[in-house]
Amino acid sequence: MPYELAIIGAGNMAEAIARGLIDGRVFQPGQMIAADVSPQRRELFSRELGIKTVEIPSKASVDARRILLSVKPQNMKDVLADLNSAMRDDALVISIAAGISSRFIEQNLAPRPCRVIRTMPNTPMLVGEGMVAMAPGSRATPADMDDARRIFQPAATVIDVTEDKLDAVTALSGSGPAYFFYLVEQMIRAGTEMGLTDSEARTLAITTASGAAKMLATSPDSPQELRRKVTSPKGTTHEAITHMEQHSLAQIMIDAIKAAQRRSRELGG
Ligand SMILES: NC(=O)c1ccc[n+]([C@@H]2O[C@H](COP(=O)([O-])OP(=O)(O)OC[C@H]3O[C@@H](n4cnc5c(N)ncnc54)[C@H](OP(=O)(O)O)[C@@H]3O)[C@@H](O)[C@H]2O)c1
Repeated sequence: MPYELAIIGAGNMAEAIARGLIDGRVFQPGQMIAADVSPQRRELFSRELGIKTVEIPSKASVDARRILLSVKPQNMKDVLADLNSAMRDDALVISIAAGISSRFIEQNLAPRPCRVIRTMPNTPMLVGEGMVAMAPGSRATPADMDDARRIFQPAATVIDVTEDKLDAVTALSGSGPAYFFYLVEQMIRAGTEMGLTDSEARTLAITTASGAAKMLATSPDSPQELRRKVTSPKGTTHEAITHMEQHSLAQIMIDAIKAAQRRSRELGG
């Protein structure tokens, strides 16, 4: 029997995806195979997840219906050369690697007529709350997109975009968790500067962040409206927001996210 999924690069993101697939009963462990150069990662996949593992990518891809490319971008060229030596022509290739275009993957798997889907996930997938944007390569069909969506849906919200938007996606949701972590870091610092203990400041800031995130996700109100509801005229929140606006924080954030988009374009070549 062919494997339903060959996971190439059994790292952190691949682990989140594999756990989602098993917990969500999309595939059983026996329907997947994973390749990784690291003995520790192979051991984790086989012992904790029950997934068969191999060292060499082509040993995993040789009889797999779908191939998940989850190695770091710098390893991609070598991995594709190896996969091209042994994979099914009809395998659907799904990549999560940042900055690697579907065209690059198609070219490195030529002359096979590979169907490729490029995606951009983010790290909250590790806790089953990820965001994934998917873009079809030149040969991927709508049915392939539906098929790939099933891979990510257990651990993420999935949207379809065109590939030219993936640099913006990378800047917004790929890097986005770090912006929130950074904000919480500064809230903790402010708390300790105001005389709270580190532990008090951490509890206050982190609980506030997760409560606010839940409200954002569940309330019918827009972020702007939610903010308005905690901002009474001339009150404490108003004072803080006015200070942020006087120092152009909104523009700084927009410029920073656009800088991330530019960097994503540069890295993609
Ligand atoms: N982390 C994020 O926030 C994020 C967000 C969006 C997209 N991504 C993308 O997701 C991909 C994986 O990221 P990650 O954070 O999960 O990386 P990771 O934990 O480093 O996983 C990659 C794994 O692939 C292994 N590997 C390297 N070369 C290999 C080869 N030739 N054959 C087989 N396995 C090989 C690595 O082993 P060694 O460590 O021993 O080299 C490592 O275990 C990257 O392409 C990244 O761009 C990540």
